[in-house]
Amino acid sequence: MKILGIETSCDETAISILEISGDEKKPDFCAIGNSVLSQIKIHAEYGGVFPNLAKREHSKNLVPILKETLNKAGLIEESKKQSEIPENLQKFLEREPELFKHFSEFIPKIEKPKIDAIAVTQGPGLEPALWVGINFAKALNMTWNIPIIPVNHMEGHLVSALLHKESLNKAQKLHLMQFPALALLISGGHTEIVLAEDFSKYKIVGKTKDDAIGEAYDKVARMLGLPYPGGPEISKLAEEERQKNNIERPFVLPRPMIHSKDLDFSFAGLKTAVLYTIKKLPKITEEIKKQIAKEFEDAVTEVLVTKMKKAIDENAVKTVLVGGGVIANKFIRKSLEEMIKKYEDINILIPDKEITTDNALMIALAGYFAIKQERKIGGLDFRAEGNLSL
Ligand code: KG4
Ligand code: ZN
Repeated sequence: MKILGIETSCDETAISILEISGDEKKPDFCAIGNSVLSQIKIHAEYGGVFPNLAKREHSKNLVPILKETLNKAGLIEESKKQSEIPENLQKFLEREPELFKHFSEFIPKIEKPKIDAIAVTQGPGLEPALWVGINFAKALNMTWNIPIIPVNHMEGHLVSALLHKESLNKAQKLHLMQFPALALLISGGHTEIVLAEDFSKYKIVGKTKDDAIGEAYDKVARMLGLPYPGGPEISKLAEEERQKNNIERPFVLPRPMIHSKDLDFSFAGLKTAVLYTIKKLPKITEEIKKQIAKEFEDAVTEVLVTKMKKAIDENAVKTVLVGGGVIANKFIRKSLEEMIKKYEDINILIPDKEITTDNALMIALAGYFAIKQERKIGGLDFRAEGNLSL
């Protein structure tokens, strides 16, 4: 089986073709084509992601990226006679004229590829950006009649922990996992703890009341004059400071909600505390930046580890999954792994760095589980949902 994944929820335009082969009970998974085009450089100038700019970039890039991905997957076969694109397609794509132009120039030239389903991110994310991916998927469906599976982006991050990075190049089994599982999803838009009884059976048991953790990283980075996205920048400085093994803490930041009875988070106060700290200083030197970065990362990590420990103690789970862009952070990774080591019967799965940030492979994989579970698929009557929840 081959599933085409499409991801356009934020500032990455991504397309992947996931091939599932071999023994049906224990299949192999391979990304026979996988492309991600990041718009980070374009948005970095503005210090954040601009929805309409993201939409325009997706419109421009989707068809070239599809072409590249199909090519890598060896699925391009020139059409013997130019096929027609459906009559109503121009009207359908009237809000994405650039996408229509690229679409009508490329798609009729190739034969319908051997793809069984199209999985596309429905939400959550930036609605204008989501719409482009969805309309593209629908246009492909109208032309090739391949069924579409709308996918929740957060389910994509959740299942990404099951993939080995080797799947990007060769056929691999998934990591073994047992339910019930707890998933910690930490990204630029989300911070949530999810209890999973099965794929698609999710309950959010904790979430942020204000800023997402990646958002806090990005905002604090901005205050320190560091470029977008802030996560990698702050973690680099924090690591440099950590290497010094300095036991002094020149700045002390709060650990918001660390002892609250629930599993919720709050990072807005932490961000404001950084702002006040900076305001009191006559000058921010490189040394001070490193010290603040480390204290901020320590605060965030302590809260995450404490809340995950509490969540594990309250729920008899067999697996812990972590997903989302922020788990690229080595210190957070290591701290969570160390905490979970103490639980002998719990397995922790964290995706390799290559698949932590937004990609379409995880969307295709979530689509695969939807097919396996016979969830409602096909049909064109679904919309982008910026606030879609698990
Ligand atoms: O999952 P993702 O690619 O996009 C969303 O769905 O939001 O996550 C992006 C977020 C950004 O806020 C970025 O600053 C953060 O992940 N991030 C990191 C690191 N790398 C990326 N945060 C902390 N440490 C990192 N190393
Ligand atoms: Zn994401």
